[in-house]
Amino acid sequence: MLKEMLMIHPLGQTAAVVFGLFNLFTGLTRRCLILALHVNFGVLFYALMFLGAAVGALVVRLAVHRDVVVVPWFTHGLFALGFMAVLLCGALSGFLLLARKSRPVWMLALHRYSNITAVALFGVQAYTGLRALAAIVYAAPR
Ligand code: HEM
Ligand code: HEM
Repeated sequence: MLKEMLMIHPLGQTAAVVFGLFNLFTGLTRRCLILALHVNFGVLFYALMFLGAAVGALVVRLAVHRDVVVVPWFTHGLFALGFMAVLLCGALSGFLLLARKSRPVWMLALHRYSNITAVALFGVQAYTGLRALAAIVYAAPR
């Protein structure tokens, strides 16, 4: 059952990145950059990512406790911490941009580059995550 529960985590993270990719495209090209949609999709992106990370961490702890999951992948967990710091940066700069009448260039740049970094880091997480998943799925039952 825990192995099945572990599949929820990558699915949630993948769903989140769809919103992130949409926002990145509309933000960078400024085509269809409807602010209300951008903010709602942005909140979904950050919230799902954080929730998904929490589910991942929780299921791994449970599984290790019950001796089910054999490979907690160190780099995946470590990069997740960096990933979440970058997400915080993207969200904070986004809300600051919303709150201010003037939009300083540095704040727009901070928002742009932290979100580009976040989406790029997702690629790294998907790579290490899929390797961890393969190791778990193909592990001999204990
Ligand atoms: C809490 C969620 C978010 C808020 C409140 C927010 C807010 C904003 C605001 C106010 C702008 C300026 C729009 C304008 O000048 O008309 C902006 C631009 C932008 N946003 Fe977001 N955003 C959020 C999430 C995201 C996410 C998740 C991404 C991508 C993964 C993203 C990518 C961008 C990009 C690339 C720009 C253009 C920056 C530039 O002009 O250099 N945003 N955002
Ligand atoms: C398609 C993408 C992803 C896949 C396939 C995936 C898969 C996995 C798997 C199999 C585990 C359990 C084994 C382990 O601990 O390494 C795990 C744990 C975890 N994942 Fe992911 N993941 C993905 C994306 C992400 C992203 C984007 C984040 C960051 C927000 C994240 C955060 C975590 C965390 C915090 C854990 C718990 C690590 C620990 O405590 O040791 N994952 N993930």
